[in-house]
Amino acid sequence: MTSSNDIRKSFLDHFAQAGHTPVASAPLVPQNDPTLMFVNAGMVPFKNVFTGLESRPYNKAASSQKCVRAGGKHNDLDNVGYTARHHTFFEMLGNFSFGDYFKEQAITLAWDLLTRQWGLDKNRLTVTVYHTDDEAAALWKKIAGLPEHRIIRIATNDNFWSMGDTGPCGPCSEIFWDHGDHIFGGPPGSPDEDGDRFVEIWNLVFMQYEQVDANTRLDLPRPSIDTGMGLERIAAVLQGVHDNYDTDTFKTLIAASEDKVGKALTAEARASHRVIADHLRSSGFLVADGVLPANEGRGYVLRRIMRRAMRHAHLLGAKEPLMHQLVPALLGTMGQAYPELGRAQALIEETLKLEETRFRQTLERGLGLLDEATARLQSGGTLPGDVAFKLYDTFGFPYDLTEDALRARGIAVDRAGFDAAMAEQRRQARAAWTGSGEAKDATVWFDIADAHGATEFTGYSSLTGEAQVVALVKNGQQVERADAGDSLVLITNQTPFYGESGGQAGDGGTLRWGDGLQAQITDTRKALGKLHLHDVTLADGGPLRVGDVVRLDVSNPKRGAHRRAHSATHLLHAALRRRLGGHVTQKGSSVAEDYLRFDFSHQKPVTAAELAAVEADVNAQILGNREVSTTLMTPEDAIAAGAMALFGEKYGDEVRVLAMGVDDRAAPYSVELCGGTHVTALGDIGLLKITSESAVASGVRRIEAKTGIAAREWLNEREALLLEAAATIRVRPEEVPARVATLMDDRKRLERELADAKRALALAGPATGSKAGPEQVNGLNFQGQVLDGLDPKALRGLIDETKAALGSGIVVMIAVNDGRASVAVGVTADLTSTHSAVDLVRVAAAALGGQGGGGRPDMAQAGGPDGDKAADALAAVKAALA
Ligand code: ALA
Repeated sequence: MTSSNDIRKSFLDHFAQAGHTPVASAPLVPQNDPTLMFVNAGMVPFKNVFTGLESRPYNKAASSQKCVRAGGKHNDLDNVGYTARHHTFFEMLGNFSFGDYFKEQAITLAWDLLTRQWGLDKNRLTVTVYHTDDEAAALWKKIAGLPEHRIIRIATNDNFWSMGDTGPCGPCSEIFWDHGDHIFGGPPGSPDEDGDRFVEIWNLVFMQYEQVDANTRLDLPRPSIDTGMGLERIAAVLQGVHDNYDTDTFKTLIAASEDKVGKALTAEARASHRVIADHLRSSGFLVADGVLPANEGRGYVLRRIMRRAMRHAHLLGAKEPLMHQLVPALLGTMGQAYPELGRAQALIEETLKLEETRFRQTLERGLGLLDEATARLQSGGTLPGDVAFKLYDTFGFPYDLTEDALRARGIAVDRAGFDAAMAEQRRQARAAWTGSGEAKDATVWFDIADAHGATEFTGYSSLTGEAQVVALVKNGQQVERADAGDSLVLITNQTPFYGESGGQAGDGGTLRWGDGLQAQITDTRKALGKLHLHDVTLADGGPLRVGDVVRLDVSNPKRGAHRRAHSATHLLHAALRRRLGGHVTQKGSSVAEDYLRFDFSHQKPVTAAELAAVEADVNAQILGNREVSTTLMTPEDAIAAGAMALFGEKYGDEVRVLAMGVDDRAAPYSVELCGGTHVTALGDIGLLKITSESAVASGVRRIEAKTGIAAREWLNEREALLLEAAATIRVRPEEVPARVATLMDDRKRLERELADAKRALALAGPATGSKAGPEQVNGLNFQGQVLDGLDPKALRGLIDETKAALGSGIVVMIAVNDGRASVAVGVTADLTSTHSAVDLVRVAAAALGGQGGGGRPDMAQAGGPDGDKAADALAAVKAALA
């Protein structure tokens, strides 16, 4: 038997030999088409190559592309499990020519592979062509030698393929395999074509046009080829089975399901096992490509798929969560061709287990309600929409799960009633908000969120991406278009731009659209917790319209710098708790470009030694360079797992849990709940440098720090200062501290010496208004002197010395500096009973234009602004004595 893995390989080899470059499958989330939910055909990753927007180093390629058809234009979810060939996930084998070969070679290569390489019986092959495509019909006749009646002309859209409402398209030719007359059905175009006997296995699209919008179809620059062959279908043909679910891959997965759930593949269990096998593939591949279950957008499609499978696991009687136990089987069959499955194994298993554990908590009660509500309904009846809504809202039953659950009993669901109940709930949510005071501004955001749902944030894994404009808001009003000069808020269906929240600043970057138009996004905010609002001014380009496809590029250095600072904040928080104690909790946090500010509870200043230790701990984690792990959990589980939850933060029913680094007991160094963006591995932070520690309030300390580039720049600036200082004092930088200490000592010594010298000089110099020696005033020894430039601090010592020299008498010394006078009066002890230094100094001070003066009877000091009156002051004292 030819395994699916062999078939994939021989397909790629066949086309490689014909000069095609084998191209690895692109991720399921489209990288280049925001109007698509998931990649749903092999040509999607090449869309821009067909239209000429992008060029590649090859013009012929072949791939095996992962595809999901659930949600969006091609949606097969409802049928999976009940038919032989519907899948939510499948692989599309395809060969592509970008303006190289066209119809003739495409048909030759396909025919060759099917009949020569794989040896299929050409009598069992039938083809269709678009009814007007004579050329293709003639080529089939020439190349394959098919008789006229097996080249069937089809006039419907079945033979005109388009990717979506827009994009490359063209007439196509389909190849059918006749599974044999034991199966009911007629060839394509016949009345019995819906039977299962003739199965389309390969579609050759002759790409010629690009659908730009509903009314515009352009010619592609060069006619091209896009083909698609479902691997599951061709595997069925080559493995001699009729049903895709009987091929090797599905047999393996279904066997695993039978084994784990302990229930064999009976007729009654068949649909459930098939749903489980199919949904396991789509869930596993979607998680591996970065989609996580959510209540909006892609994440909600994933959740619908997962929960649908989980109900079937329950139906089979699974007592424990089942899906995650099947992941090893998935890896066994497909892990080699798609190594991303292995890389994401733990995440896939955890995500499935969490979702199933949670859903099982309400599943049984929901099914109970469903039984009650349908007890009286017969086949052909309809479940009221409000019951379906209650199942959705209270029990987490996606709408299609309810439909699926009633399918076997032939009961339908009232979709309109469901939608009405949903609309009513939204109205109430809005009314509740309107009561809360922030009403006016919020109305427009509610309108937009109701019409378009949440903005899908794609920025955890990517800094760039395409998006479709869903709304433009100018001066608080929605507008259909904006023109050059307008400032507005742009809302798109998805965005890599982080909206300010959780202390992390919003992203800025570039908006590009149309024919080379661009504008700067200055900031991104969030409204209602789910819309990302891009602030943008169309400086010199317009118009920008609702519906336009735009390219969004986060300015890389800025986001990189935010990531570094944000991850470093988590490490810092953990290091502080580990060093200072568990009382440390976050009180505030701000994350900007390579800068962080972290406020936390702690009663006293953090010592320099503690800070140094914290900084060293953080940097040790950075150098350890472990990958940062992100998992999705309920807030309760996350907190139980030791995550630091922030008080006062509102968490949704799921939180991202960031684990970083490792401690000496092999546990994660930091575990926090966080919706922010982070580095991939801790080494990306580069470096953490604490730049300050201070108090912000009683019991709250603040640390500021720099990371990455800013940390290096900060250290460079510091070094430059050191070098400058070293150059100034002419030593090597490492000698600066010792040299500065010596200089400080020298300076103190010199100051002392200078003061002494000044005093000596002042005493020796010409004294104004007095003789150098004592004179007699009213029978007392009196010595008065004016000393220019004498340090006033020296007056006291001088008075004491002079008093000692006189033995008995009165001393007045006036130091004049910069025009200001300081005066001191001394009275020897034998005279203090009759003369008070305090009284005398007041007399001098008055003459100097000053007031008061103080001291003791033997020694008093005062000052005055009029230094030039020093001689008058001496005279006044003498007069007072006389
Ligand atoms: N793009 C074509 C398809 O999906 C081949 O059928």
